[in-house]
Amino acid sequence: MKTRITELFGIEHPIIQGGMHYVGFAELAAAVSNAGGLGIITGLTQKTPADLVNEIARCKDMTDRPFGVNITFLPALAQPDYPGIVKAVIQGGVTIVETAGRNPEPVLPYLKDAGIKVIHKCTSVRHATKAQAIGCDAVSVDGFECGGHPGEDDVPNMILLPRAADELEIPFVSSGGMADGRSLAASLALGADGMNMGTRFIATREAPVHDNVKQAIVAATELDTRLVMRPLRNTERVLKNTAVERLLEKEKTLGADLTFDDIRDEVAGVYPKIMIDGEMEAGAWSCGMVAGLIHDIPTCRELIDRIMAEAEAIISRRLADFVG
Ligand SMILES: Cc1cc2nc3c(=O)[nH]c(=O)nc-3n(C[C@H](O)[C@H](O)[C@H](O)COP(=O)(O)O)c2cc1C
Repeated sequence: MKTRITELFGIEHPIIQGGMHYVGFAELAAAVSNAGGLGIITGLTQKTPADLVNEIARCKDMTDRPFGVNITFLPALAQPDYPGIVKAVIQGGVTIVETAGRNPEPVLPYLKDAGIKVIHKCTSVRHATKAQAIGCDAVSVDGFECGGHPGEDDVPNMILLPRAADELEIPFVSSGGMADGRSLAASLALGADGMNMGTRFIATREAPVHDNVKQAIVAATELDTRLVMRPLRNTERVLKNTAVERLLEKEKTLGADLTFDDIRDEVAGVYPKIMIDGEMEAGAWSCGMVAGLIHDIPTCRELIDRIMAEAEAIISRRLADFVG
């Protein structure tokens, strides 16, 4: 299958693994890229730019195919060393960057000068057209269903993707709620040139996270996610657990008086405990509604091959039969 996204990134299949904190290590990025998709290392999970250079080198040892690095611009109080991260990406010879969070304009000239292709992940049409205007090569359009930060507009992909298609000239991928060949065929029908997946890629054999995390995703249904931090305008879709119930109780009790300090225990520094140690009640962790569509833990190659076969069958048989 050839699309503007496979052409832009030099990949075999139009499937991207979005950056994920404490999940997007070299092992997963390499496995996705080796299977013909685009794997992405999460820049901010690496403690220093030197660690990121190392992680990029490890990924290069595991794959000859293109892979990317995610740079997430946080609303956080403590700002990471973004210039250092950009330097590490350039020094590592990475050719693709996924930006997310705030506007990537300040770092764009450095990335473009180094010949790096930039895909910006955003949750609204206005941010997507802004990304196009400042020179991003593509966008990843994250609907309300998505695991992680869906923004504050709450527009699901059935509306958001065709709206993006109406406004954008650069190619875009769907993101949020994507799991299988039906998702890919639907994304293409709605105007996207590929799809990005987060939660689905955590429940794979190569994802370097504790087995408890994978089992929690397989056990979860589409009813098991919650939105937290909405009062702080930093909404995150997470899997429900006791920490999340406690967090939501605090949001309800404190109302407009809620500050980040009130929920620090439930959200700060919890990812290593969950992803590495498998402590599933340690805090709030991002997970999409798509958990309801995830029932197994395949290898990345099995997953991607299955998605491509299913999408091609839907397009060339099921859909073609309706008009044939
Ligand atoms: C555990 C987890 C951690 C994530 N961390 C990040 C991150 O650090 N930066 C980022 O841009 N997106 C992050 N995301 C969002 C994903 O890259 C992707 O956009 C999202 O998962 C798509 O929705 P889906 O889970 O329904 O596939 C994360 C998602 C999950 C599930």
